[in-house]
Amino acid sequence: MITIFENYEQMSEYTASLVAEEITNNPKSRLGLPTGSTPIGMYKNLIQFGLDWSNVETYNLDEYEGISHSHPESYHMYMNKNLFLHVNLKKENIHFPDDQYDKTISGFGGLDLTILGIGHNGHIAFNEPGSSVTSRTRKVKLTEETINANSRFFDSINEVPKKAFTMGMKTIRESKKIILIANGQDKWDILNECFNGELSKDRPASILQTHPNIQVFYAG
Ligand code: GLP
Repeated sequence: MITIFENYEQMSEYTASLVAEEITNNPKSRLGLPTGSTPIGMYKNLIQFGLDWSNVETYNLDEYEGISHSHPESYHMYMNKNLFLHVNLKKENIHFPDDQYDKTISGFGGLDLTILGIGHNGHIAFNEPGSSVTSRTRKVKLTEETINANSRFFDSINEVPKKAFTMGMKTIRESKKIILIANGQDKWDILNECFNGELSKDRPASILQTHPNIQVFYAG
């Protein structure tokens, strides 16, 4: 189930080509988009395609609570820097988790394609271990492990937000297609447990094993 790439660049290029194909086939694609260090190469490659994004809609997976959208480490800023400022997406077609998220997304029958990263504890978006498989968009408390992992982006650990808004497990699972990408040897064990092990709420990504159209990519 896990496709292993020779290196990060090849995984990023291939993932970008699949997203580009999705947009080319359906110019009105509704995409679920991740942040983190892993998707940066994918975004870089995707921009190079020079696609028409004017009818594409984007739905980010998560955002921190308690920092402004203009904070350099907010996911709003991350997305501006890595994608939004480089393509002709319309402002009104860009979405982040809010009270209407599930109503909107379920209203059109789920996202067309969602790209995911994975945390060291198996979290997807900010659905930490223990998240219900039927969970929807909500505010969550981040685990100690996630706060530590994300502290590398902040000046000190005290500045790392302790809460976040995340798309729920159910909303993610309703995406018609999913691509999960993981980079680095430190991600192998959790990836292997999630996709070659048993399904468990304690490893949120493992729940995706039963998704009818998921691809899992790894670069070591
Ligand atoms: C954060 C994000 C996740 C992301 C994870 C892994 O916790 N909320 O969506 O998958 O980090 O990030 P990285 O790719 O930097 O390891």
